[in-house]
Order: sequence, then structure tokens, then C-alpha cells
Amino acid sequence: MYIDGRFVNAKSGKTFNVYDPATEQVIATCPAGEAADVDLAAAAAKKAFYGGWRGTSAQERGRVLFRIADRIRARRDELARIETLNSGKPIVESEYDMDDCVTCFEYYGGLATKINGEVIPVPTNAMVLAVKEPMGVAGQIIPWNYPLAMAAWKLGPALAAGCCAVIKPAEQTPLTLLELAKDFEACGLPPGVVNVVTGMGPECGGPIVTHPDIRKIAFTGSAEVGKLIMRNAADQLKRVSLELGGKSPNIFFSDSDFEAAVDGALFGVFINQGEVCSAGSRVLVQKEIYQKFVEACAAKAKTIRVGPGIERETKMGPLVSAEQRDRVRKYQEIGRKEAKTAAGGGAPSQFAKGWYVEPTIFYDVDNNARIAQEEIFGPVMSIIPFKDEADALRIANATPYGLAAAVWTRDIFKAFRVVKQLEAGVVWVNHMQPTMLEAPWGGYKMSGFGRELGHWGVEEYLETKQIYVNLDETPIAWY
Ligand code: NAI
Ligand code: MG
Repeated sequence: MYIDGRFVNAKSGKTFNVYDPATEQVIATCPAGEAADVDLAAAAAKKAFYGGWRGTSAQERGRVLFRIADRIRARRDELARIETLNSGKPIVESEYDMDDCVTCFEYYGGLATKINGEVIPVPTNAMVLAVKEPMGVAGQIIPWNYPLAMAAWKLGPALAAGCCAVIKPAEQTPLTLLELAKDFEACGLPPGVVNVVTGMGPECGGPIVTHPDIRKIAFTGSAEVGKLIMRNAADQLKRVSLELGGKSPNIFFSDSDFEAAVDGALFGVFINQGEVCSAGSRVLVQKEIYQKFVEACAAKAKTIRVGPGIERETKMGPLVSAEQRDRVRKYQEIGRKEAKTAAGGGAPSQFAKGWYVEPTIFYDVDNNARIAQEEIFGPVMSIIPFKDEADALRIANATPYGLAAAVWTRDIFKAFRVVKQLEAGVVWVNHMQPTMLEAPWGGYKMSGFGRELGHWGVEEYLETKQIYVNLDETPIAWY
């Protein structure tokens, strides 16, 4: 772990194993941090915050973020390789993720000097200002599907705002963030500004959520843990932002470009082995093209190259853990009973080791089925037919989630009518998944609240202070 500028073990001396999902081999052991370690990290962060970080100039914080971006750029291939070894994802996607991390730190490096306040016109002879101030120490809890990228999405805005951080990577995938931490000092981050604690959710994440010196929690992960965090943060009325999962609809009208649509449906749910919060896992297809669409998706899904992420030709690697593989296998079983199978439905037979599952397509899925309502977080597509625009919207919004949605059509009138009625925080037209670091990211309904990325991301780490300055020198008339 990296606490107060030094790499340390857990106070208890306990460790846990980290695996390569393609070989099931242990590739590292990490300290199993607990409350005592979180205490040290929070104390270091608090000391760093009051001891200077909050008073640094925005230019200086920006420069630190640029240097972090430069380090990731310089170490791109090495970090991408570690990301793939640890998460299973295809190396090409890991490289893309590293580029994304660079862009993210650069974006927030630039934004650091643009966090402005406001001057508010008031009726009295006074000057009223609203200024933005850093919240203090932020607790950040990271998932395993985009390990370093999710850390960048949270560290970038926190540091730009002037906050310090206690950040916990997922226990499955701590390696890239620990690697990057080796460079923090050389990038000009004073000790304690960013502390990386590793450990299990309840034992290490839990104490972050309830620590009295941690003012804000930013979490990405399951809705189940999101609810727990909100409950546990309530006693201290801690600020919380939650980016939870989804069951995002990818809607195809019969007038969409057919080839692009099929590719968009596959890409939407099979990228990163389907371990994507915004995965287009519900594919809604208009009746006129339904049969042809199911057949085309199934034919193409069978050509997806599944294999070790480290091979450049691989399109889908193994899932991150045995636990996640089992979860997805369970949903494949459920799906085979609830709907018809067009492709996959099990585990590929060619691998002796590795947590692989087949790209799987179910069709004639009822929107009330479990595979249409519950987040699977794996390469499982549920295809649902619809009649017309109203039908598509009714089905699309009939989910407790609301992270993302996409609509495919050549008719711009129809596209925008649908966009306006979709209850989702991110909506794509004729595409699915491109993520712009400059634009807001987050969910409606049970996909959470708060927005990451863009200037919205930095707001999550800022308090607003009203300042009233009296300009009238005459005594108060009240006496
Ligand atoms: P999870 O929500 O348990 O884990 C995410 C992070 O939260 C990890 O760092 C974990 O250590 C931490 N955590 C777990 N329990 C905690 C607690 N009690 N207090 C504080 N922190 C805690 O996700 P898990 O179990 O790995 O995956 C389960 C499902 O969650 C997946 O199948 C998927 O549906 C969803 N998920 C969604 C993600 C997203 O991007 N929105 C990312 C990861 C998982
Ligand atoms: Mg969990």
C-alpha cells in the first residue's frame, strides 16, 4: 500500500492474492488493509490537506496532474500489459484505457486553473461572492473493470479541486494503481496527498466510508454496495457520489443502417467482455428487421475471438475472477430457461485454464425476465422485439436502472423524440459506448447520482462558500 508517501504493509501483516484471469495463477500478493491502515491513510491525507495541499496554487496542482499524465504516457505499454495481466481484458483495450487515463489527468490539469467563483448582484450596498473550496479528504472506492481509468476519473478531479485522497482499488485489480503510485513523488505530489490502500470491500472499504476525517465518498460498483455506502455515510451526512451499474437499452429501429446496427449491438455489450457499467445488455429490435437481426448478430458473435488478453488478436478475454465467471455462468443457465439461445450460452471448451465464458445471445426475451432486469456484467445480450416508438420507449424505461441508452435510426426526428424520453444519464445516437472525458457521466434512477468527468466531475469535490462584504460604512440602523 502507499501511505504518506511510502510503500507499507498492512499493520496486521495480512495479505491477499492477486491473479491472472487467463492462467488462474497468483501474480502478486498485496497487503490486506483494514481499519487501522485506513486510519493511517486518513491521518496522512488530513495532515497533507491542512499542511499545504489546499493552499497550493491551482497552477501548481495543474502541473502535478500534467506530470502524472506524462508518466502514464511514458509507461503506457508497461502499464497496459499489467492491466491486461491483472484484469484479463484485451491488450488493445488496455492500451486505449491508458490513453484515456492520460487524457483524463490532462483534462483536469487544465481545469484546475478554471475553477471560478461568481459575483452575485445584491440589493444592498455590498459585494456578494460565491467561492469554491475543496471538501477536504475524499474516500474513493474503485471497481475492477477499468482499474486505472476509474482511478483516474476520481483522482483527476479530486486533485484539481485541492482535495486529498484515500483511494482503494478493487481487491481483484490493485496493480496498475500501485505501479503508478511509484511515480507520485517524482510528479510533485507531496506525501499524504494520495494514499492507496488495498484490501477487501467490507474490511478496507467499509472503514473508509465511516471514517470521521473523510468528508466525501466517491464509489463505482454494484448497486448493492452503493446502497450500503449511502446508509453507512448517513450518520456523518457525508457527501456521496455513486456510479452504479445498469441494464442499458440499445434500441434499433428498422430504418437504421443494418450492418452498422449489428456491429453496434455486438460492440455495445461484448466490449471488455461485457464487464461494463454502461453495457448495452438489452438489445431492442423493431419487428420488421428482428429475425434477420438476431441471425446476423448470432453469426457474427460466433466469430468473436476469445482468448488470453495479452494476444493482440483477442477481442474478448477471460472474466476478472472465478466469482464473476460463476455469476455470469449462473445467468447463462437462467437465460437458457427464460428465452431462446442464438449464440453461446456456456464456457468455451478450448481453454484448460482461465475464467472464460462464451459471447452469449438470448432472443425472444421478455423484459420482465431476470436476464432483462438484472445486471449480469458479462458478455450476455438479451434481444427483445418491439412494435413501434411507443413500445420501444415503454420497454427501454421499464428498468430500475438508468445509466445509459442508445438509439439507432436514420430519422433525426424520431431519434430526438426518443432521446428526450429516455430516462438515462448518457444517451448515444447511432453509436454505443464512446466516452468523452469532457462530458458528464452518471446515472438516473438506481444507477446512482452525481456526475463524473468534465467540469461536473470537479463539482463533486467542491463546497460553495457565500461571502458577504459590507460596503456601507454607516452604522447598522437597528440600534
Ligand atoms: P462491488 O460493488 O462489491 O465492488 C466494487 C468496489 O467496492 C471494490 O473496490 C470493493 O472492494 C468495494 N466494496 C465491496 N463491498 C464494500 C463495502 N461493504 N464497503 C465499501 N466498499 C466495498 O462489486 P463486485 O462484487 O466486484 O461485483 C458485483 C457486481 O457489481 C458485478 O457483477 C456488477 O454487476 C457490479 N459492478 C458494477 C460496476 C460498475 O462499473 N458500475 C463495477 C464492478 C461491479
Ligand atoms: Mg461485491
